Amino acid sequence: MVKAIIAPSMLSSDFANLASEAQRMLNCGADWLHMDVMDGHFVPNLTLGAPVIESLRKHTKAYLDCHLMVTNPLDYVEPLGKAGASGFTFHVEASRDNWQELVQQIKSKGMKPGVSLKPGTPIEEVYPLLDGENSVELVLVMTVEPGFGGQKFMPEMMDKVRTLRKKYPSLDIEVDGGLGPSTIEAASSAGANCVVAGSSVFGAPDPAQVISLMRNSVEE
Ligand code: DX5
Ligand code: ZN
Repeated sequence: MVKAIIAPSMLSSDFANLASEAQRMLNCGADWLHMDVMDGHFVPNLTLGAPVIESLRKHTKAYLDCHLMVTNPLDYVEPLGKAGASGFTFHVEASRDNWQELVQQIKSKGMKPGVSLKPGTPIEEVYPLLDGENSVELVLVMTVEPGFGGQKFMPEMMDKVRTLRKKYPSLDIEVDGGLGPSTIEAASSAGANCVVAGSSVFGAPDPAQVISLMRNSVEE
């Protein structure tokens, strides 16, 4: 079975204290820090980009799992690579014409390439990105409409996770949106091994407990 990775979404943190919030999550047992890059165009929200990643990188060696909710992901590869991003996950809906170049560029900058899909996008759309040359190493299945934290988990997305896990036993399959103690079982039993969680972790009195509960569920 693939390794469990718990990635708190820094979108739910206090952005004015990003470095200490990141350290707090690592102290609580986080494996990765999930960084939501939104351009106000692909999604109706605007968050952070390369300058913020670069600032955070000066304070931590942690794996920065960047989720690009942007219309032109190719434009972000070089700046994010320079800034110190570790993973670069773009949306399949934003890269239908140029995903091969995108994956190649991401790899050449030393980042781990991933692809994400919105709830309305069928899983079959990511197959070409997994099978050929220049393939991605992670699939991020959105379990809410991208754009905001604190939304309700969509259990029907677990069919995508199950299908993907059957076809790719050792692939990193990440889920994002509405994950927490009450929804982790659905995700882990479907086969997800990377779990993004924002509000359930940052809103908990004891984030370490929530992180360990989710890890145990994935590793069961
Ligand atoms: C939503 C983002 C998520 C978000 C998850 O578009 O991609 O990473 O922060 O937040 P929760 O866990 O609160 O749903
Ligand atoms: Zn995300």
